[in-house]
Amino acid sequence: MSERTIALVTGANKGIGYEIAAGLGALGWSIGVGARDEQRRNAAVEKLRAAGVQAFGVPLDVSDDASATAAAQLIEEQAGRLDVLVNNAAITGGMPQEPTGVDPATIRTVVETNVIGVVRVTNAMLPLLRRSAAPRIVNMSSSVGSLTRQSGPDAEQTAGPVSAAYAPSKTFLNAVTLQYVRELSGTNILINVGCPGYVATDLNGFRGVRTPEQGAAIAIKLATLPDDGPTGQFFDDAGVVPW
Ligand SMILES: NC(=O)c1ccc[n+]([C@@H]2O[C@H](COP(=O)([O-])OP(=O)(O)OC[C@H]3O[C@@H](n4cnc5c(N)ncnc54)[C@H](OP(=O)(O)O)[C@@H]3O)[C@@H](O)[C@H]2O)c1
Repeated sequence: MSERTIALVTGANKGIGYEIAAGLGALGWSIGVGARDEQRRNAAVEKLRAAGVQAFGVPLDVSDDASATAAAQLIEEQAGRLDVLVNNAAITGGMPQEPTGVDPATIRTVVETNVIGVVRVTNAMLPLLRRSAAPRIVNMSSSVGSLTRQSGPDAEQTAGPVSAAYAPSKTFLNAVTLQYVRELSGTNILINVGCPGYVATDLNGFRGVRTPEQGAAIAIKLATLPDDGPTGQFFDDAGVVPW
């Protein structure tokens, strides 16, 4: 079994996920690059290796049960355990998606990836995480999923565009995360939610104002928490984000 810390980052082929992989890899960790497309996955693994990261490709479509099961088998074969899972992969479903005009299929697809995908991958990886001395789960959410911000007086400035699928999917993800925290309380698994800020990536047509590297910082912080670190909380770079 590897002495290096083993991490899996979902959606690691580009954007914030790639930079999370690069940042954790720079710590000397072994990084499973979870990505659904073979070419994009291989390109990311090659780029990380060229930067000195010990990276290995993990074929993973988070919306597919068999893919998550196969990913866990691959990590078991490669590493024998998993120390850190970063659930980063997500989609918006495309904008605009106001509730009065949204196609219900859009909501279904977004929830399938952003919420059920996290449950699927987490449950597939849990047996491997339980073998770690210091397991961490980081769920990449968004402050647009904060009901406090959505219902506050500054929602137009702080809560993103009105959306029936993306923002509520992150609220759902936050709620599901807390259910994991409750069920797994008393174990050594620390589970937290991170928001990267508004980052220039494909997700928003590169309209974000932060770099993917800046967006990755909160995930790296939550992935490297000490044993007495927080669990069941929602953070961005500025501190605690209200649920
Ligand atoms: N960008 C922002 O301003 C912002 C703000 C708040 C929160 N976030 C969150 O940060 C995380 C990363 O977002 P990003 O901005 O880096 O987005 P991005 O550049 O669009 O990257 C999304 C990643 O998720 C992958 N993905 C999507 N569906 C998948 C599936 N079914 N199976 C496996 N991988 C899948 C994509 O793979 P493909 O290349 O194959 O599509 C890609 O690697 C997301 O959770 C997002 O909600 C982003």
